Amino acid sequence: MLTPSQTAYVPFVSVENMMRLVLHIGIEKMLTELAAEIESDFARWPLFDKTARVASHSDIGVIELMPTSDGETYGFKYVNGHPSNTKQGLQTVTAFGLLASVATGYPLMLSEMTILTALRTAATSAMAAKWLAPNGASVMAMIGNGAQAEFQALAFKAICGIREVRLYDIDPLATEKCANNLKDQGLAVIRCTSAEEAIMGAQIITTCTADKQYATILSDNMVGTGVHINAVGGDCPGKTELHRDILLRSGIFVEYPPQTRIEGEIQQLDPDHPVTELWQVINGTAEGRSDARQITLFDSVGFAIEDFSALRYVYSRLKGTGLFQNLDMIADPDDPRDLFGMILRAGQA
Ligand SMILES: NC(=O)c1ccc[n+]([C@@H]2O[C@H](COP(=O)([O-])OP(=O)(O)OC[C@H]3O[C@@H](n4cnc5c(N)ncnc54)[C@H](O)[C@@H]3O)[C@@H](O)[C@H]2O)c1
Repeated sequence: MLTPSQTAYVPFVSVENMMRLVLHIGIEKMLTELAAEIESDFARWPLFDKTARVASHSDIGVIELMPTSDGETYGFKYVNGHPSNTKQGLQTVTAFGLLASVATGYPLMLSEMTILTALRTAATSAMAAKWLAPNGASVMAMIGNGAQAEFQALAFKAICGIREVRLYDIDPLATEKCANNLKDQGLAVIRCTSAEEAIMGAQIITTCTADKQYATILSDNMVGTGVHINAVGGDCPGKTELHRDILLRSGIFVEYPPQTRIEGEIQQLDPDHPVTELWQVINGTAEGRSDARQITLFDSVGFAIEDFSALRYVYSRLKGTGLFQNLDMIADPDDPRDLFGMILRAGQA
């Protein structure tokens, strides 16, 4: 066989190399840098090509494609959400993604994004809380202690100064796993036996559960004034975590309204219920938290620009690390119109 040319190769970041990159940079530093990258892309939001993600639903899960472009670079992510997967020893969420040059359409990098999604979701959550949470917040309730949980806890420590996390999960083994993973990470970790106990004294409440139904992780009477709710787990039609009455008492902040109205907690509200786009708070055209007593809610569903920022960040940090493999991914005949001849010559070589 002929050896591929240099343009045939696309750098590929495997799971192993992503883990090495996280360890090389340091997880809290990486979360902080990712949050800064996402924030700066939110600040130039109007420039992006935006579309609600393309979702293929089944009774037990969803498979989604999330594309966007800033005119120079294009990115997309493939991601699934299957809450029942963990019963078979599989993950609820897995992902991979690609970055490409708009000028040529050639891919720049292919990457695993299961780990990167956990990092970017946590970085986005903490970045939003930096703008919305009450001043001096130091305690966070973490309800749902699965795959995303430790990433969320560490992002809120690094970016918002959280010092105590109060863990609750319907499965005590998940709480045990999470508490063990966080034990030497500089956080006070409290194991709780109910959601009510977890939110005691918390200024920030993160809900990150997985169940394909209208669930009520928080009911109205559980939530006092002056808190910030970071609602991560409700991200599909028919999959929510908060009682509707909480939404009616909250200032609601979202990523991309056309997507969030279908997938987020606000699918429970009228289609014209007022919401604020987070990017407008960041670029100074909309108000964030109005007063200390307000309940702010980041109705997070995950938007393509966050994945774009994360992919571009990884691409920028790869140089000099060797933490990628070159994939022979793009057919590159010497004469661009002689694709067929390239096959013939390969047979003769
Ligand atoms: N908004 C985003 O950008 C974004 C990104 C990634 C994942 N998600 C969503 O976040 C959720 C969590 O993802 P994950 O990968 O950590 O899933 P996971 O399955 O690993 O963990 C979910 C945990 O929630 C627990 N749980 C389920 N019902 C509960 C309840 N009623 N009370 C308390 N705990 C409960 C489960 O026992 C499990 O430990 C999923 O719904 C996923 O779709 C959202």
